[in-house]
Amino acid sequence: MRTYLVTGGAGFIGSNYIHYMFKKYDSEIRIINVDKLTYAGNLANLKDVENRENYEFIKADICDNEAINKIFEENDIDRVVHFAAESHVDRSIKNPDVFVKTNVLGTLVMLNAAKHAWENEDGSFKADKKFLHVSTDEVYGSLENDGEFFYETTPYDPHSPYSASKASSDMLVRSYMDTYKFPANITNCSNNYGPYQFPEKLIPLIINNALKGNKLPVYGDGKNVRDWLYVEDHAKGIDMVQEKGRLFETYNIGGHNEKQNIEIINIILETLCEMLPDDDERKKHINKDLIEYVEDRKGHDRRYAIAPDKIKEEIGWYPETMFEDGIRLTIKWYFDHAQLMENVTSGDYQKYYQEMYK
Ligand code: NAD
Ligand code: TYD
Repeated sequence: MRTYLVTGGAGFIGSNYIHYMFKKYDSEIRIINVDKLTYAGNLANLKDVENRENYEFIKADICDNEAINKIFEENDIDRVVHFAAESHVDRSIKNPDVFVKTNVLGTLVMLNAAKHAWENEDGSFKADKKFLHVSTDEVYGSLENDGEFFYETTPYDPHSPYSASKASSDMLVRSYMDTYKFPANITNCSNNYGPYQFPEKLIPLIINNALKGNKLPVYGDGKNVRDWLYVEDHAKGIDMVQEKGRLFETYNIGGHNEKQNIEIINIILETLCEMLPDDDERKKHINKDLIEYVEDRKGHDRRYAIAPDKIKEEIGWYPETMFEDGIRLTIKWYFDHAQLMENVTSGDYQKYYQEMYK
């Protein structure tokens, strides 16, 4: 039975990945989820799996060398899937330090612990041990013209403290692969959306605000473009890269689903109105009057777009969920989990929101 060490599994993509993996492999695998439970981590995201015998949660900081090494000493880890990170660009603009600490130094701790546990005396590595570093397309910078795409060979050009910290962590992983032949892969994925996303990111924030009749803040002219991928497709891509990809390679994950932010907001408004029953009171206030153009994000990247050619050709992965379907699944999930959203958006979130959007 393979044992996975998943970092950041209580966050958005990590929790979706854990759900995906248990759906796919059921009791054939064991998952240990290590998470510090920052504001972005929520064990309620894992309610469905918490009682499984082949699942264990450990609350720890990936920067804590001792705690991470202990996990490797006590368990024969076969796969590391490293999600844990500070992940929100706006927060990185206000407070970059924690991004460098978690994303760069935390990744270094993970690399060292895995290397220590997996390395033989002669410098080779034990068979079938693999580390997958989950990264972002934002490391490639910003595209200005239609028809340009990010390839695995696109030079890194990060602009925000978030993307700079992710780029640094990618470089560390590359250096371990190059220097030690450390058995790893890197995936650089485009913007994800779907269940369990924290409502500081565009799509859940718009759904949540629209349902409450609050303003929908659009940065700048609303024409910045992101390439949106349904989170389960990302989870599947990660698993396929780890099992079928060539070691030491980087794979871009994403899928030609570029949309301007304002388009996304309009689609959400239309879909909400279609999905809510006719007698739902909220239908009265869900319309374009809620849209409010606000000051642009500092250093706002204009356009991201992934060319997924390599992962498609080598591994056979492609995005399966059309945006029209994915957004309906996402909105349905938010309808069905209103209480969870209520819990998440009380307390600290209110403080964050007031400061961010004052
Ligand atoms: P998230 O913010 O929802 O979750 C991050 C998780 O990491 C949380 O559970 C948090 O508690 C945990 N964490 C943070 N600091 C930690 C620490 N020091 N020690 C242990 N755990 C810690 O993030 P997400 O959107 O799920 O992103 C996961 C990964 O995927 C990140 O590495 C991110 O860079 C990458 N990524 C995200 C997207 C996206 O669209 N969200 C796209 C591409 C890549
Ligand atoms: P976000 O979800 O924060 O992801 P990222 O910045 O990592 O791409 O933002 C997606 C896009 O939406 C980005 O261009 C910024 C924009 N945006 C808004 O216009 N208003 C908002 O309130 C937020 C959170 C984002």
